[in-house]
Amino acid sequence: MNNQNIFILGIESSCDDTSAAVLNRTQVMSNLIASQKIHSAFGGVVPELASRAHQQNIIPVVDQALKEAGIQKEQLNAVAFTRGPGLLGSLLVGISFAKAFAMGLHIPLIEVDHLQAHILSHFVNSETKTPPQFPFLCLTVSGGHTQIVLVRDYFDMEIVGQTIDDAAGETFDKAAKMMELPYPGGPAIGKLAALGNPEAFTFSKPNIPNFDYSFSGLKTSILYTLRDHLKEDSDFIEKNKPDICASVQKSIVDILMKQFMKAVQKYRVQDIAISGGVSANGALRDAVQTFGQKKGLNVHIPPFAFTTDNAAMIAVVGYLKFQKNLFTDQSAKPYSGQKI
Ligand code: KG4
Ligand code: ZN
Repeated sequence: MNNQNIFILGIESSCDDTSAAVLNRTQVMSNLIASQKIHSAFGGVVPELASRAHQQNIIPVVDQALKEAGIQKEQLNAVAFTRGPGLLGSLLVGISFAKAFAMGLHIPLIEVDHLQAHILSHFVNSETKTPPQFPFLCLTVSGGHTQIVLVRDYFDMEIVGQTIDDAAGETFDKAAKMMELPYPGGPAIGKLAALGNPEAFTFSKPNIPNFDYSFSGLKTSILYTLRDHLKEDSDFIEKNKPDICASVQKSIVDILMKQFMKAVQKYRVQDIAISGGVSANGALRDAVQTFGQKKGLNVHIPPFAFTTDNAAMIAVVGYLKFQKNLFTDQSAKPYSGQKI
């Protein structure tokens, strides 16, 4: 049974990336992403433009994913799609396509929660790597979400802490916008931060007793610091970009780590993981690795390809659900808010 081919097509269209992937069980055969450049001119994702770009991209991306995987669509066993959370218009494009494709091929349709998929991205290629052992704690950090999740089993998850305002990725993006860096801001800040001094500026940090997060105070603190310095020197940002970026990045990573370390202490797990777009950040990856090593934990850092939005993580959840016969009918509608 274990060596039997099970081909799953995954489709991800929750935000500004149109992605399609083909997996054979958990193993990636192709994983394509059409990133929508159109939003960078606006400093953030414009929902209506995102829907239209998804519509243009989806057929060529799926077609290419099948070609790269070297299979015919008739060989697929199921189609998995992101049902939510995300932008409703964008989700609708992926859902409509997935429904039609599954119906045409007479194969099961499988809905996937985007946040569960970020966590379960650690099980992509799990035949050739060691995935996390249950129970584990996962810090999911993306553009829309920041949460610490206790993962007892594939579909038995409990959020033990989450942001009460902005997400970590959003904070990177907003800080980048203040410095007129391109969207998405995380990668741009990460690159410049490598050249700067993380101690150059200090920003305010929240003090939250449980495992929740808040980034709005930090955001305001960055804004006021820049504003005050700009009053004295209009070239302040230009002259100090690497130091500002390094200090912003350090503040975000410190905030993320403080609550995550507390949660690990409380839940006494042996395995820890990070996921989501911000888990591509070098400073965060280093901090989690260092902490895990110090505590003798098994640390799971995702390959870069599975950090930001991708369809491989959707397809792997599709495979896990396929095994349990967890199928979706044609009446499925998208949802914008959090479900797990
Ligand atoms: O998971 P993701 O692709 O989409 C959502 O589900 O939101 O995450 C996107 C977020 C953006 O805010 C982006 O700035 C951030 O991930 N990001 C990074 C890095 N790469 C992407 N943040 C910090 N460092 C990076 N290298
Ligand atoms: Zn995401």
